Amino acid sequence: MVDLTTTYLGLSLRSPIVASASPITDDPDVVRRLEAAGAGAVVLPSLFEEEILHEESELNRALEAGSEHFAEALDYFPSIDELPHAGDRYVERLARIKAVTSLPVIASLNATSPGGWTDHARRLQDAGADALELNLYHLAADPLLAADDVEDRDLEIIAAVREEIDIPLAVKLSPYYSAMAGFAQDVVRAGADGLVLFNRFYQPDLDLETLTVVPRVELSSPSELRLPLRWIAILSPHLAGRASLAATSGVASGTDVVKALLVGADVAMTTSALLRHGPEHVAVLESELLAWLTEREYDSVAQLRGSANHSTSGDPAAFERAGYVRTLHSWAAPHDLTPSSPSS
Ligand SMILES: Cc1cc2nc3c(=O)[nH]c(=O)nc-3n(C[C@H](O)[C@H](O)[C@H](O)COP(=O)(O)O)c2cc1C
Repeated sequence: MVDLTTTYLGLSLRSPIVASASPITDDPDVVRRLEAAGAGAVVLPSLFEEEILHEESELNRALEAGSEHFAEALDYFPSIDELPHAGDRYVERLARIKAVTSLPVIASLNATSPGGWTDHARRLQDAGADALELNLYHLAADPLLAADDVEDRDLEIIAAVREEIDIPLAVKLSPYYSAMAGFAQDVVRAGADGLVLFNRFYQPDLDLETLTVVPRVELSSPSELRLPLRWIAILSPHLAGRASLAATSGVASGTDVVKALLVGADVAMTTSALLRHGPEHVAVLESELLAWLTEREYDSVAQLRGSANHSTSGDPAAFERAGYVRTLHSWAAPHDLTPSSPSS
């Protein structure tokens, strides 16, 4: 039997296949099915900083408006601490999921700025989260902010969340930092136990009737895995023994899981494939992974992990600029590009 176990953020997982944050991990029945299909862990959908701050400011406004008009209003309004907030609802959801599964449950906070909201990290820990994933999803759209400012702010958020919790902390990053290899080291120094690479950016589309921006969620394709593969290959030798690595974006088959492990990921996370094919698709990924390992006589996932990363692949340049040059030169015209003459 091939040993599929892996260690992620210090947690022992029965399999390296993890269901990443999405609405399906919010449903206790689906989480049961993910567990039955062999998932190693689940990441809950995020609690967003905006949800926390919006609710608090709305409530404050309501309380202030009430107190201006009716002196006695404050007696009728419950205190801000007594009302169920987004954070309370999230804690309840987390408890519902923990009650139905023995899988490690990773809570997720999604944030862009430092602030008092970071104390919610402790609440998620107290509610039983086995680890926390902090998602720093933002665009550097402010022309007054330099790259250093953006990175310093993110490191401040990571350090503030680290301060709140003792459970393992993973940080889900975008691929758009100007010096990713250096920044990854800083993220670990700021307190991350692992990196989740990468956030998949949803590009806004335009509606040509209303001339408005419309949000469109499109599920990923396997070619999107190449970006995390490259960076995990480059980062894994530097972070070995110091931080875990999770691949996310484009993991749709067992061979995608193999590729993620080969470049040094500890786990391969998947969402789009589960939304397309259902939670039982985890079992398909596992059987494809097992078939690949068995055919090549691997004993374990550990034996495979990192055997084709930046320092072990025998061709480190392939992950860098030389790979770009070779890729361009490898293009072959699929047909004759000579323009046809008007008479032909
Ligand atoms: C409908 C939907 C909801 C998602 N919600 C979250 C979320 O709440 N927090 C988060 O960090 N990622 C969220 N994601 C991103 C996924 O966790 C994952 O990183 C991304 O879809 C790339 O993986 P994939 O190619 O396997 O889909 C969501 C993705 C989808 C499609």
